[in-house]
Amino acid sequence: MSEANSLINCPGVSVETQSHGLDKVVIDNDLGRCELYLHGAHITSFTPKGETDLLWLSPKAVFCADKAIRGGIPICWPWFGAHPSDSSKPAHGFARVTQWQLDSAVALENGATQVCLKLSESEQSLSLWPHRFELVYQIVVGKQLDIALTVTNTDESAFDIGGALHSYFNIHDVEQVSIKGLDGICYRDKVEGFAQNQQNGDIKFTQEVDRVYIDTEDTCYLQDPGFDRTIEISKSGSDSTIVWNPWQDKSQSMADMSDDGYQTMVCIEAGSTGGVNIAPGQQHCLAQSIKCRC
Ligand code: BG6
Repeated sequence: MSEANSLINCPGVSVETQSHGLDKVVIDNDLGRCELYLHGAHITSFTPKGETDLLWLSPKAVFCADKAIRGGIPICWPWFGAHPSDSSKPAHGFARVTQWQLDSAVALENGATQVCLKLSESEQSLSLWPHRFELVYQIVVGKQLDIALTVTNTDESAFDIGGALHSYFNIHDVEQVSIKGLDGICYRDKVEGFAQNQQNGDIKFTQEVDRVYIDTEDTCYLQDPGFDRTIEISKSGSDSTIVWNPWQDKSQSMADMSDDGYQTMVCIEAGSTGGVNIAPGQQHCLAQSIKCRC
C-alpha cells in the first residue's frame, strides 16, 4: 500500500506501490476502469465495462522515475516536442517525468469517479522553466474518459505554454484502421521536414506518420473494423491534433517498444502547439474526451 492511500477515502479507488517503486492508482466503478501512475500523472489503461482497453501500453514500457512511460496518456507540458531553444531539456517537457500529488477522489452521482492530481513548481522545474504555476489534472472515469489539464499562472509575469495530451490508442491492426474528422485540415509533416500539406479524406496508415494538424478543434473518429468499434476523441482548449505512428524502423530503434509495436497503436493527441500566453492569475484548460462507439 502507498502513503497516498491514507489520503483518499473513495469507494473503488486505491493506490498501491508497484514492485518497480512507482505508485499506481486504480479507479474501478460500474462503468469503467482506469489505471494511472502518480509518476507523470500518467494514465496507462482505460476500459469501459465489457470492452477491450481503449489505450495502448507498450509491453516493453519502462517504469522508473526519470523516464516517461511508453503508451497510455503522457502529459507533454509545458512544451511539445523538442524545447524551442535548448535541446538538452527533456523532449515534451517535464510534467510526464515528475511525481504528481493525488489531491482528491470523489464518487459522482452518475456512477463515474472523479480524481484530481496536482503539480506546482519545484527547484527542479524552475531550473528547466523559470515560472511558478499550479497544474490540476482532473480525470473522470465513467463510460467515457474525460481528462482536463488546467494551469494557473501563480507567478508575477506572463508566460507561454504548449503541450499535448499524448493519447496512445489500442487498435487491432494499423493497416486496417482509419481516422475520420481531419479532412481538409492543413498539417505540418514532421516526416517531411515540417512541410505543410492538406489532408484529403480519412487518414490511413501504410508508413510512418508524424503530423501536426493545425488550427483544428474537430472531433476525430478512430475506426477499427478489427475490434469492431470506433473510438470518438473530442477536445477543447487545443489548437492542433497530432497523429503519430512510428512504423517499423522507428519501433525497432526504440528500446521501450517491441519491433512490431507500431502495428497495434496509433496516437491522436490533443495539442496546444501554437503557444498560449497566460497572464498572472489567469488559467488555461486543455481537455480531451475518449468514448467508445461499440
Ligand atoms: C509525437 C511526436 O507526439 O511523440 C513524435 O510528434 C515523437 O515526433 C513521439 O517521436 C514520441 O515522443 P517520445 O519523446 O515519447 O519518444
